[in-house]
Amino acid sequence: MTRSTRRRVETRETQAREKAVTEEVVESFDFAESDRFREVMQSLVRHLHSFARDVRLSQEEWSAAVDFLTRTGQISDDRRQEFILLSDVLGLSMLTVGINAPAVEGATESTVFGPFFVEDAPRIELGGDLAQGAKGVPCYVSGQVRAVDGTPLAGVRVDAWEADEDGLYDTQYEGKVTAGRGWLLTDDDGGYRFWSVTPTAYPIPHDGPVGELMKAAGRGPMRPAHLHFKVEAPGFEPLITHVFVAGDEYLDQDAVFGVKESLIGHFVEHDGGTAPDGSQPTGRWTQVEFDLVLAREEP
Ligand SMILES: [Fe+2]
Repeated sequence: MTRSTRRRVETRETQAREKAVTEEVVESFDFAESDRFREVMQSLVRHLHSFARDVRLSQEEWSAAVDFLTRTGQISDDRRQEFILLSDVLGLSMLTVGINAPAVEGATESTVFGPFFVEDAPRIELGGDLAQGAKGVPCYVSGQVRAVDGTPLAGVRVDAWEADEDGLYDTQYEGKVTAGRGWLLTDDDGGYRFWSVTPTAYPIPHDGPVGELMKAAGRGPMRPAHLHFKVEAPGFEPLITHVFVAGDEYLDQDAVFGVKESLIGHFVEHDGGTAPDGSQPTGRWTQVEFDLVLAREEP
């Protein structure tokens, strides 16, 4: 049956039947113990059913969707998170970031968490080496963690993680390699600093279901070069963000829609000379300063 023929046989009776199914399912959540759970699930059912009616979802398409989600789960493990990637490429991650972290005047903006954070990253000393063997042009990263009113935040945990010069995170290599990630505590002035590698643009993993989706859409998989940060301090909203590299060719076509103008940092290029920590690198290195300004938690 073609789409137009199928549309023609949508009688008032079938419409009523479809509506009855939706209402029956919505009502099945009426007695949920949690008000919030009921609200979320009833809205989800309404929108999901409305979507199926809107596109006149075929049985084959329903099966393809189930197969897609099954494979998305099967390829995920503690080192690969295909569901976060799916959320990212559908813009759901950025939408959720926007809903939950409205821009607060003066605070650093948030962006996507991404699928590459791991819980057990190593602690490094202030000024230490976060690269831990990750390949790339050395990069000195520093800045201050402070409140919007300028108060420096001492002893705050700053997590950072990034891809190497081949555009790969440590978790994408065979074996349990840990490189290009770590955390440290800010000093008395809220300062943080570490050595790592200059971020490189990279394709999101596109050898799985999400890659198929991107290909079918004719969309490119590239993300502009960036370094991830996660900062958590008591009494403040947690901050999950990136610093992007100014001049990157993919800034206006991020596969996961994560770029915000205020998050673009200037990575100054050097050749030899003396670094801010007094060391004298041989060859090329870069330097970026990026302050992380936290919004106070709503009372
Ligand atoms: Fe990333």
